[in-house]
Amino acid sequence: MSNDLGVGIIGCGNISMTYLKLAPLFRGLRLVACADLNDEAAAARAAEYGIRAQSIPDLLANSEIDVVVNLTIPAAHFIVSRAILDAGKHVYSEKPLAITLEDGKALQALASDKGLKVGCAPDTFLGGAHQLARKYIDEGGVGRITSGTCHVMSPGMEMWHPNPGFFFIEGGGPILDLAPYYIANLINFLGPVKRVASLTSMASPTRTVTSEPLNGQVIPVETPTNIHALLEFLSGATITLSASWDVWSHRHANMELYGTEGSIFVPDPNFFGGTVEVSGRAKEITPLEPWDHPFGVANQEHPQGPRANYRTAGLADMAMSLIEGREARCSLDRTLHAVDVMTSILKSGEEGRFVEMTTTCTQPAALGIDEALALLR
Ligand SMILES: NC(=O)c1ccc[n+]([C@@H]2O[C@H](COP(=O)([O-])OP(=O)(O)OC[C@H]3O[C@@H](n4cnc5c(N)ncnc54)[C@H](O)[C@@H]3O)[C@@H](O)[C@H]2O)c1
Repeated sequence: MSNDLGVGIIGCGNISMTYLKLAPLFRGLRLVACADLNDEAAAARAAEYGIRAQSIPDLLANSEIDVVVNLTIPAAHFIVSRAILDAGKHVYSEKPLAITLEDGKALQALASDKGLKVGCAPDTFLGGAHQLARKYIDEGGVGRITSGTCHVMSPGMEMWHPNPGFFFIEGGGPILDLAPYYIANLINFLGPVKRVASLTSMASPTRTVTSEPLNGQVIPVETPTNIHALLEFLSGATITLSASWDVWSHRHANMELYGTEGSIFVPDPNFFGGTVEVSGRAKEITPLEPWDHPFGVANQEHPQGPRANYRTAGLADMAMSLIEGREARCSLDRTLHAVDVMTSILKSGEEGRFVEMTTTCTQPAALGIDEALALLR
């Protein structure tokens, strides 16, 4: 196989700019073309980033393209990823892989039939902070993790996203939209989940958009916006996960894990960087010494201060895994398991019972400093 993969992008909305901007940082990726249902969106991105805009069928038939990145809305992920596999190309999808477990399993079967790979975001667990936490946990810093809490809560998405409708219909909601970051990181630290239970609700059946250009538009809410879930891992660890867009403010930390020898405080899994704090039996909480991990280095200005953003690292790891003949970290089995966990949380909320997972996965390989450097140009 050649030493890079031709990359096409389907879906030229908000997140496509991040991929187009960051992909050139990585080895193994050669941006070729982009497409969208909306030709104008594709043409605008293509002009901005110096690639070709194509129709969706032309992009799928383009022999220079080996892997297609699916950056469409969640409800379209399955149909677009299936078309990419049908066209004989590997897929890397934004999260979630699919909005039902059945669709995810259908993609798995199709990929296996065709001998193609499917990878999926999030890749933020490859960030310097999360890999530092992983190293500390793997080295026994907190002993055996027995429990923990995760909280991802805010007032919502309709105040910043230019087209927020998809967040509030099936396939959206804080579980399918934001829990992927938390579940991917929990799989990174703890491995697979055994069973889940939850209580779900929504504060209002409609929301009013306050971002531009749709300011004032009333949009329907068709999926729970407030979820309190319990996750039991195969390792025996029990984790509380609350995910809500019905909360104006709170004082909970993003992720705390409690072990037999101490506790670890992990920064927001939606981002690559941040400070990891730990405590032992003495109970004094101290920051871990930062390390020279390339995916922890701030590379973007942000209103809350400089930030590390290496989204596309998961795609680069998948490209290198194809070139080197090894397993990808943002792999199909892990992302399918995450879909199982998330859809089971919603099912538990509807049915009022524990739901057992029908899929499983392994922990991804850690991504240390050398492995991360090897992904960069
Ligand atoms: N916006 C973010 O900050 C962000 C961050 C991380 C992940 N994501 C994920 O990325 C995905 C896209 O989010 P976004 O914010 O860019 O959405 P968006 O609505 O801004 O863009 C989606 C684009 O996909 C196109 N599209 C929809 N259906 C299509 C189809 N069937 N075929 C081809 N094109 C189609 C739309 O025309 C639109 O241009 C979502 O899965 C989201 O969860 C977004």
